[in-house]
Order: sequence, then C-alpha cells, then structure tokens
Amino acid sequence: MRVERNTEAGRALGLVAAALISILSLILIFAGWSATLFSVFAQAVPSAKATNYYELKPGADRDGIDKYYMGRQIAHVMGHQAADWLERPTREQEEHTEEMIGLLNLKPGEDVADIGAGTGYISWRMAKKVAPGKVYAVEIQQEMLDLLGANMKERGITNIVQTLGTITDPKLPTNAIDLIIMVDVYHEFDHPYEMTEAMVRSLKVGGRLVFVEFRKEDPHVPIKEVHKMSEAQVKKEMSIFPLAHAQTFTNLPWQHVIVFTKNPSLRTNMRTGADLGPGPTVRPAGSPTPARVKIGNTSANSIPANPQPK
Ligand SMILES: C[S@@+](CC[C@H](N)C(=O)[O-])C[C@H]1O[C@@H](n2cnc3c(N)ncnc32)[C@H](O)[C@@H]1O
Repeated sequence: MRVERNTEAGRALGLVAAALISILSLILIFAGWSATLFSVFAQAVPSAKATNYYELKPGADRDGIDKYYMGRQIAHVMGHQAADWLERPTREQEEHTEEMIGLLNLKPGEDVADIGAGTGYISWRMAKKVAPGKVYAVEIQQEMLDLLGANMKERGITNIVQTLGTITDPKLPTNAIDLIIMVDVYHEFDHPYEMTEAMVRSLKVGGRLVFVEFRKEDPHVPIKEVHKMSEAQVKKEMSIFPLAHAQTFTNLPWQHVIVFTKNPSLRTNMRTGADLGPGPTVRPAGSPTPARVKIGNTSANSIPANPQPK
C-alpha cells in the first residue's frame, strides 16, 4: 500500500512539475516574442517619423544628391580632397570670418561645437575665445579630422575635442553645449532631421544653434546653388523643433548668420516632444558605422573633390 501511495504521490509531483515547466516555457516564448516585437517597433517608430520628411527622386541639380528634405535638394558632401579650399588665403577677405565669429559674442568657459569642422578653420578661432571651455570639432570624414589635428598641433591649441560623428549623430553630450555652429555645412546633411534632433538634444536650455549659410536670396554670391540656403528655408526646417529664431545677421559679404535658441516649452514635432532628455537608445535602422560612412549614393572615402564656387 505504502509503495502504491508513494508512486501516486510521485506521479502527481511529476505532473505538477511538467505543468510548471510548460507554463515557464510559454512565458519565456512570449517574453522573447515581445522583446523582438518591441525592438522592431522601437526601430520602426523613430525612422518612420523622420523618413516621412524625405523624398527620394532624381535630383534636379547635379551638385545635389537624389534626396529632398522639405522641398530642398540636399547637396553633395564636400570631400576631404578639396580641403585646401577651406584654407584658401582669400577666405577672410571673402567671408569676413573674424567678424562672423565676433558676432557670436563667445565667452571664456563656454563649451561649443563646430559641426562639419573640416580642417578646423572655424574651430581654432572659437577655441581661442572660449578657453578654458572646449570646442567639439565634429566631422564624418576621418581625413578632415586628421588635417584638423595637424593644424591644431601647429597652432598649439589644446581645448578642441575631435569627434567622429555619423550622418545621423554628432555624438555630443546631452544638455551640455552652449552654442553649436555649422559654417557652410547644414545643406550637406544627408539626414538633416536626425542631425537637428540630436543637436537640439545636446544644447543646454537657452543654448544657441547657429547656421552660417551662403545667401540663396543673392544671385551674386558665387557659390553653387545647392550649397546656398535662404533664411526662409532654414526657418521652415527648424520650425518643427523646440527652437526660437533669435536673430539673423546679413552684413557679411556672402553669408547670413541665422541664430536660434533652444526653448523646450515650444510645441514641436520632435520625436521626444518637449522632453529633451536622453534620446532613443535605438538608432534608426541601418545607421552607418563611423569608419566607412555612406553619404547619399557615395561613401566618405570615395567622395569626389567638390569645391563649391560656381
Ligand atoms: C564645406 S565643408 C565646411 C567646413 C568648415 N565648416 C569650414 O567652414 O571650414 C563641410 C563639411 O561638413 C562635413 N559634414 C557633412 N555632413 C556632416 C554631418 N552629418 N556631420 C558632421 N560633418 C558633416 C563634411 O565632411 C565637410 O567636411
């Protein structure tokens, strides 16, 4: 009798154990599916909203790529092979760079970022003004950063942080930067939506986002059309972000300087809305690695030299 009872108890225990294992397996399978679905969804949501802004069609201008953003054809990236053009001896006379930097009224101790820094022509001038603050010199072409590094060494500038970004992410710290400048750069962004979103996130509240672009309104500015931008177009593209237009300087020979400030209380279309904390940890699907960046229909280490004068 005792043997039979023990056998029955054993069977019952076995059944309970089997049921528990089945339930556990079901929970694990469900959790796995949920995680997969969540990660697919998480990747789909950010890119879905951003890609709505992009239109892929043959470019009307051969100096631009086959991609449009808010009605504007995006320009080809200027390859590092044309870096000499950035350091040309006539540049100060043509662009009044010192005057432009003076307009920014930079203060010692501020941390600033120079996106698309190229050879560092703008970076080192700002570095002198903000020391002991830092200049994050952001580039997607390692070759440009190499040239920039050599220039800084030659000048003894030590407060520049070389930063290799990607076409969607300048890799800047969050809520940490006083001013971000793009000199002759924004119109080349392959992903202007993602770049602006990331730049806004990295600005402190009240921090400034500065565009220095060749004036499209002026047919006498001797620069290729897709490498120019009108003030109206810049304002249109910034209108979906928590940015307030602060001022536009128009006194430089060829460029305008369009300044916005970060104002998180503005209603926006930004993915994180008014919440300007850390952004999504999931990068849009297919983000390139920094080493061999895909830019439009070309890649960074095969970009043709493309200086911009007409
Ligand atoms: C015309 S150059 C201007 C360089 C510099 N700002 C100057 O005025 O001397 C444009 C630079 O922007 C860089 N660039 C383009 N897209 C970028 C992005 N998404 N992030 C960082 N740099 C970018 C290019 O690699 C190129 O070196």
